[in-house]
Amino acid sequence: MSNPRITDASAFGRVAVLMGGWSAERAVSLDSGAAVGAALQRRGVDVTMIDVDQHRVLGLADEGFDRVWLALHGRGGEDGVVQGALELQGLPYTGSGVLACALSMDKVRTKALWAAQGIPTPAHRLLDANTESKAVVEALGLPLIVKPVHEGSTIGISKVERIEDLDAARAEAAKYDREVMAEQFVNGPEYTAAILDGRALPLIHIEPSSGFYDYEAKYVANDTLYHCPCDLEQGREAELQRLALRAFEITGATGWGRVDLMLDDAGQPWFLELNAIPGMTSHSLVPMAARAAGMDFDELVWRILGATLTTTNQEKDNELA
Ligand SMILES: Nc1ncnc2c1ncn2[C@@H]1O[C@H](COP(=O)(O)OP(=O)(O)O)[C@@H](O)[C@H]1O
Ligand SMILES: [Mg+2]
Repeated sequence: MSNPRITDASAFGRVAVLMGGWSAERAVSLDSGAAVGAALQRRGVDVTMIDVDQHRVLGLADEGFDRVWLALHGRGGEDGVVQGALELQGLPYTGSGVLACALSMDKVRTKALWAAQGIPTPAHRLLDANTESKAVVEALGLPLIVKPVHEGSTIGISKVERIEDLDAARAEAAKYDREVMAEQFVNGPEYTAAILDGRALPLIHIEPSSGFYDYEAKYVANDTLYHCPCDLEQGREAELQRLALRAFEITGATGWGRVDLMLDDAGQPWFLELNAIPGMTSHSLVPMAARAAGMDFDELVWRILGATLTTTNQEKDNELA
């Protein structure tokens, strides 16, 4: 759905930007929230930035806020829990509803839905301490990827080249999550599709210097290359954008978000995950894609908030395209 243009900041009333929180991605969220809050202030919105705890989330309506810009990442903020708390208070909020947030936080269940709906996603196996490495390697081949089912920001992920390393990789991922998966390796290149108001923005080609887009490459190293507009032929990009938008909408996601995908040697796309509340610092990926579409950061932040005037909380989970 596309928004009618909103020009009057007072239409939004009092806006709370929720940031920080209690997830493993707290630090990134504080940066996202600060950037979002500053953008709204530049546009004259009556905005309060709040580093939230559980107690504060439950009292936002009583504090007199009219709507919420959700800049929380990871468990607790991006997984439907806060979304549900806001719905109980009748507070409109940015981004996807309870269903899509909860689903997207679980990579295995997202993949199951995608696979059932014809969205290609790499084969996977759940791992536990009793899993036989041989059976996993026979099913998925080597190398393979081991990752926590619920964590974000590439925490606890590793690439396994040799069967004897599988168990250590599982144990490492298990430090972060009660569920761990092995996934078929995709050779790359890697792309991400930012989604805004029912369309996919220009794809970003991500080229980490280490060949692996891990936490270091995402947030620390400055030698990861981002190409946007990307290097794909236009018709090919449009095709992948359509598929990415479908992957987004099939999960019931609305408003804005980001879908991660990789291509294999044959150019076949494989979808990895959906991010319901991706990073929103000025150097994050969704703002980069928006810029390539001619939209500056402040406009992007404004448009995401604009959707809270046109889509009710109840409509969010009902919009299956
Ligand atoms: N199946 C895979 N094959 C190759 N690389 C992968 C695969 N899964 C993940 N990766 C690499 O790990 C990164 C993080 O994985 P992802 O599933 O997007 O989790 P998150 O971003 O939530 O940590 C990806 O951006 C990619 O670089
Ligand atoms: Mg990712």
